[in-house]
Amino acid sequence: MSDLVIRRPDDWHLHLRDGAMLEGVIGDTSRHFARAIIMPNLVPPVVTTADADAYRERIVKAIPGGDRFEPLMTLYLTEHTEADDVARGKESGLITAVKLYPAGATTNSHGGVRDLDKVMPVLERMAKIGLPLCVHGEVTTPEVDIFDREAVFIETVLDPLRQRLPELKVTMEHVTTKDGIDYIRSSSGNLAGSITTHHLIINRNAILVGGIKPHYYCLPVAKRESHRLALRAAATSGDARFFLGTDSAPHVDPLKECACGCAGIYTSINTMSCLAHVFEEEGALDRLEAFASLNGPAWYGLAPNEETIRLIKRAEPVTFPAKIETGAGPVTVFDPMFPLYWDVA
Ligand code: NCD
Ligand code: ZN
Repeated sequence: MSDLVIRRPDDWHLHLRDGAMLEGVIGDTSRHFARAIIMPNLVPPVVTTADADAYRERIVKAIPGGDRFEPLMTLYLTEHTEADDVARGKESGLITAVKLYPAGATTNSHGGVRDLDKVMPVLERMAKIGLPLCVHGEVTTPEVDIFDREAVFIETVLDPLRQRLPELKVTMEHVTTKDGIDYIRSSSGNLAGSITTHHLIINRNAILVGGIKPHYYCLPVAKRESHRLALRAAATSGDARFFLGTDSAPHVDPLKECACGCAGIYTSINTMSCLAHVFEEEGALDRLEAFASLNGPAWYGLAPNEETIRLIKRAEPVTFPAKIETGAGPVTVFDPMFPLYWDVA
């Protein structure tokens, strides 16, 4: 197969940032994707419905003319979040999900949740009104090895929470381990997982072998090969509980190429080419549409996009810039370390 038409995809986990960076990156998403769940970890974070409304306006203004793109807004859960505000946001149609960052888990998450008991009233209201919780599934306790953070989170936080509040719909975002995949597969409902483009392609060797490679560093950090293979199997299986969330997370090069580099990989621009490559390798091109365009909307209770995109396998490799230039500075593009032949026509 060298020509594939699928419904226009959506991105169920995306960092667009703000200001000059937003303006520099949004076109790479709106070119291919119809909708995206927009992460709220700005500085300061998007905490209230009013914050989300204002951020949405700024995003809409930055969409390149001619592109049709709908940002799906999220709220950053804090221990001071008010259940009524969240409910109003859902009711007005503005808010698609609420995001739980354990405090300190990742970029701009210091205002996240330390004590789940403090947010139970909000989570109970969300369960009642059917608003999903998007979870950054990592513990941050210093005793836990960074490569075990996800597995320990499932055991000590996520599973107890789901037993306490089984009616709550939970998206385990950017699943990076076989433990996460197995946990989602074994659940009886109200649980789904997003998988990034880069975690289908790299394992931890990409970051650490032959010198330290900051542009492959993200959180959750890429794990060993057996985990990557489990992610690939899940993504390409057609199982409706798994869908694309790129977690494309731009940082300017000086903030990555330094003694304490930021976590985040920028994949918006070449995600569809990378995914077509991966799905072809797995003999699953016929299931790319489920992963990128069907399973996500079904989980979030939205209709799939009516429009389509066409992917064509070229005879010569398709090239992407090594970096994009934004008003905030240069951002290095994810290099999958193999040539890409699939192109969005
Ligand atoms: C994200 C960012 O830069 O905002 N970084 C990342 O490595 N994925 C935060 C996140 O989603 O963890
Ligand atoms: Zn993210």
